[in-house]
Amino acid sequence: MAGQRESWSARSGFILAAVGSAVGLGNIWRFPYVSYENGGGAFFIPYLVALVAAGFPLLFLDYVSGQKYRGAPPTAYRRMIKSQEIVGWWQVLVCSIIGIYYAGVLSWAGQYTIYAFNQAWGEDTEGFFFNHYLQNGSGLDFTFVPHLFVGVLLVWIVALFIMYGGIRRGVELANKIFIPLLVVMFGVMVFQAVRLPGAVEGLNAFFTPNWEAMKNPSVWLAAFGHVFFSMSIGFGIMVTYASYLRKNANLTGSGLVVGFANSSFEILAGIGIFSVLGFMAAASGKPVAEVVSGGIGLAFIAFPKIISSMGDAGTIIGVLFFASLTVAGITSMASIIQVPISAMEDKFGWSHKKSVAIVGGVSALISLVLFSTKTSITFVDVIDHFANNIGVVVGAILSIIWVTWFNRPVLNKLIRHINAISSFKVGTGWAFMLTVITPISLIAALVLSLKSLLTEGYGGYDFVTQLVFGWGVVAIFAFGALLLTKARGVDAHGEQKGEYHE
Ligand code: ALA
Repeated sequence: MAGQRESWSARSGFILAAVGSAVGLGNIWRFPYVSYENGGGAFFIPYLVALVAAGFPLLFLDYVSGQKYRGAPPTAYRRMIKSQEIVGWWQVLVCSIIGIYYAGVLSWAGQYTIYAFNQAWGEDTEGFFFNHYLQNGSGLDFTFVPHLFVGVLLVWIVALFIMYGGIRRGVELANKIFIPLLVVMFGVMVFQAVRLPGAVEGLNAFFTPNWEAMKNPSVWLAAFGHVFFSMSIGFGIMVTYASYLRKNANLTGSGLVVGFANSSFEILAGIGIFSVLGFMAAASGKPVAEVVSGGIGLAFIAFPKIISSMGDAGTIIGVLFFASLTVAGITSMASIIQVPISAMEDKFGWSHKKSVAIVGGVSALISLVLFSTKTSITFVDVIDHFANNIGVVVGAILSIIWVTWFNRPVLNKLIRHINAISSFKVGTGWAFMLTVITPISLIAALVLSLKSLLTEGYGGYDFVTQLVFGWGVVAIFAFGALLLTKARGVDAHGEQKGEYHE
């Protein structure tokens, strides 16, 4: 039987870990390229709207669900509303899949730390990334690439080592050491970037809203999808982290600190990346929109460029930057895999160590198989798109409407609970957002995205790739959630034996 639930050593420990979870590859690697692909400045407005209309409201919902009902999503949701367990498993599976590709991208960051020592990428950072490092083949090419394998393996070893230490001696400690380091290093990076010649052009591209692009629904969906990914909400992370909070924790106060810290960080990342794009545009005499092909490799192409442009000083900054990026990613990775680990402990009564070994082992294996091949970037791109734009969004919609549309009394109970222990009070505004604005905008965006995926597909990939690694992943969420909900667990024992009280 799993023992007494651990708790954070202090509120600051939780806030730091939640910031560590939120601030990750999503801020530095994902945000700039998602905004770049969705019209640069045009993306800024949907992003802010998504933050206020869905980000903060859902962050608070995740916190209160986990903290009040003391469990990873399946258990917490079941204790809240019996039929909601299945939504929890959907979120756990989304998280597991995200963890699997997150490790892939994280390993790239780790290996780029080593390349930064001698700026191994040379002049052609784009060619280096795709041809030399990823050895990107055409179509589905399962040729084994040994250095990719080693990178992914190391990521899993470090991540599971942290998980093994548990909440206080693993997760909390890792965040206390690494987050301050990241902040300092990243500040220096951005400071260098904005002083580059041409940076202003890039910043104009970042901040000028392109109203035409905003008419495109997929831009809005990308904004909502990204906000969830970046704040670590809608797929179980914040529910799980909050489940280790004490009974009187200030939920909304912490949430505001975490949310603002996260957004500040990614806007800073956007400023850094777009300054570099401006610099590259000025140097090559092309418009900003043309200087890179966009897409997933932006952080691994644009950042090396700036590092090289700094000459010798770039080497040390490059090393520290990629090291910090790796570490920031590790703290997020830890929070991602904490979700399935905690869910299995709750449901099946596994000990923490057993859960780390089984969940971690299986995830690592899948990750190693997929991301040691010449097609690794395709897998990341396709799985990321489907997991976020369908997996996270559907999980978020369900976790919201289950409460706000179908179980109103629970919502009122949650409001009373939040207000009894938190500094920032919630009320009709929060309820209105969660009942009307968030779900309607999410559902509209989801419908449009489904339509576009069904008629046009994604990213020009071939049918089989999209079917297996896109829709197949969605099928795993659905069938897996069904099976795990039906599986006989031991977690209801607390409720049945009267050990669990609200
Ligand atoms: N919130 C995490 C990130 O942004 C998953 O990387």
